[in-house]
Amino acid sequence: MKTVKFGIIGCGLMGREFGSAALRWCHLADLDVRPEIVAVCDANPAMTAWFKTHCPTVRQVTSDYRELLKNPEVEAVYIAVPHNLHAEIYCAAIEAGKHLMGEKPFGIDQAANTAIQAAIARHPGVMVRCSSESIFFPAVQRIAQMFESGAFGRIIQVESGFLHCSDLDPNKPINWKRMLKLNGEYGCMGDLGMHACHFPFRAGWRPTSVRAVLSKIVKERPDGKGGMAPCETWDNATLLCTAADAGDNEFPMTIKTFRIAPGHKNSWYLEVYGTLGSARWSSKQVNTVEFMHYTPGAEQAWQVLDMGHEMAFKSLTGVNFEAGFSDSILQMWAAFLYELAHGEPKRRFAACVTPEEAALSHALFTAALESQKHASTVAL
Ligand SMILES: NC(=O)c1ccc[n+]([C@@H]2O[C@H](COP(=O)([O-])OP(=O)(O)OC[C@H]3O[C@@H](n4cnc5c(N)ncnc54)[C@H](O)[C@@H]3O)[C@@H](O)[C@H]2O)c1
Repeated sequence: MKTVKFGIIGCGLMGREFGSAALRWCHLADLDVRPEIVAVCDANPAMTAWFKTHCPTVRQVTSDYRELLKNPEVEAVYIAVPHNLHAEIYCAAIEAGKHLMGEKPFGIDQAANTAIQAAIARHPGVMVRCSSESIFFPAVQRIAQMFESGAFGRIIQVESGFLHCSDLDPNKPINWKRMLKLNGEYGCMGDLGMHACHFPFRAGWRPTSVRAVLSKIVKERPDGKGGMAPCETWDNATLLCTAADAGDNEFPMTIKTFRIAPGHKNSWYLEVYGTLGSARWSSKQVNTVEFMHYTPGAEQAWQVLDMGHEMAFKSLTGVNFEAGFSDSILQMWAAFLYELAHGEPKRRFAACVTPEEAALSHALFTAALESQKHASTVAL
């Protein structure tokens, strides 16, 4: 078993998700590589307490990411910090020669993303990937199998999205995701968009134009100090794209990212409609995928399949048990480690977002901002 020694920069929600995934690595079967978290960093020292309690392999705890990057023991880093810090810390990590899993949106804006891409180009020996676990749900893996076998025929329409309720309550105090300087102008697109783009981009469905409708619904929130603070970023985004497949066939593709989605808590969904087959899934019913194979002239009939635990990377859980968010996180990390150890992904849809795919998401979100500004369709 090969071991890759990791440092984590940013020990908040996502830093700890990786910590927890690493601690239950034994849950994966048949994998010949594992992470060992040896160093953690957070600007707020209190955030590292969880690692001190639960992660006996941690030998370095610091509040200065430069100290962590100087640590020769650290081979790879996971960086999960607010968006305004992505370019600075990702570039520093790449320059230090550390393999990098960076959180989305991979730069607060397109300029920041371009700086990260330039650092990657200067260090071809460093493996860099962007986090998104959305394709690792078993139902999405099944839709990927349908795509790879050509079961959809010519694509008619694609809908992909992420509907969240985190800002539905107007009395919830403001956090950094509603602040322009920390989350960026993309707002909910930067925050949620990569997850909705992951499958379409991996399938080679490129947006060629976008008409965006972006909404700011809750204009101010409690600031946590007795006053109110303005909400500066977009709450909800609907992107109606023209997309083209590898054969340059065009079709409509809708990408939706909502922070204020009544009736939803955290719903990821994917719907693909084609001339020969269609499939749809929502994490609202995480275990259920619906699909239809259409023979010209025959009846149309949706079939409903319970997926169970059909994972890209085999795990100890029995095949009939349903999967959840933390399972997809574990799978995403398995994909990162597998690719690092083997030099290539296990499969096309068992892989993390590449820097090229992250750059494409920036092109889309930047065009969407332009579209909203002028109420016009913008070509990519
Ligand atoms: N993949 C996913 O499903 C998913 C889910 C949520 C968030 N995210 C992404 O993860 C990233 C972090 O989000 P989060 O929800 O974990 O945020 P968070 O606020 O919970 O954690 C961020 C941490 O970064 C620390 N930090 C800030 N400045 C720092 C610095 N200079 N050096 C070191 N640490 C610093 C903060 O103290 C905080 O503990 C964002 O890019 C976000 O978009 C991804």
